[in-house]
Amino acid sequence: MIIAVDGPAASGKGTIAKALAAHYQLPHLDTGLLYRAVALNLLRWGGDPSDEKEALAACDFSQIDFDDPELKSEAAGGVASRISVYPLVRAALIKRQRDFAEQPSGAVLDGRDIGTVIAPQAEAKLFVTAKADVRARRRHAELTKLGLQTHLEDVLLDIQARDERDRTRDMAPLQQAEDADLLDTSEMAIDAAVQRAIALVEARLGRG
Ligand code: DC
Repeated sequence: MIIAVDGPAASGKGTIAKALAAHYQLPHLDTGLLYRAVALNLLRWGGDPSDEKEALAACDFSQIDFDDPELKSEAAGGVASRISVYPLVRAALIKRQRDFAEQPSGAVLDGRDIGTVIAPQAEAKLFVTAKADVRARRRHAELTKLGLQTHLEDVLLDIQARDERDRTRDMAPLQQAEDADLLDTSEMAIDAAVQRAIALVEARLGRG
């Protein structure tokens, strides 16, 4: 079974994807981390995010540690959004994601284009969203907890810029797949959102 979880930044999709993976005992891939690893690699080289070839070279990110808290920074997220518009970068990361999705155990993947491009065959697809100001508050709290200092207003501006870029890019834009269930977490505590996500998946599996 493949579960696809897509949605904008700080919508709760990562937390929900992890909880679904634990519930169904499936491996989980946060695909945003791949784009963030390319971004961090590029930033550390001093590469130019507006140069597609340099971004492609940064896709060889074997020296990046996936536990590095810098991957979660707004700087890495912003550059990840910028380099994710490049077809060469998307192509370089596609195989790794599809291989993960197609492993025999099944998998949960979260990102922007899992239900539309990476695994359109997924048995269950969620499109997780929340109002921009709610997402900004969540991301701000998360960054503060990681010891990264930011202003709420800056986080909101970053989120809005990122939404716009992710939704309007030509290749694999952020959009709800036709057969995805919408889950708006604006007014939900995380536990309630997870319970709702499980119920939606169960219904898709014909068990709800
Ligand atoms: O989910 P995230 O905030 O960690 O993702 C960072 C950026 O990576 C996001 O703004 C766009 C890009 N991304 C993408 O284009 N496709 C994905 N499947 C996941 C992330």
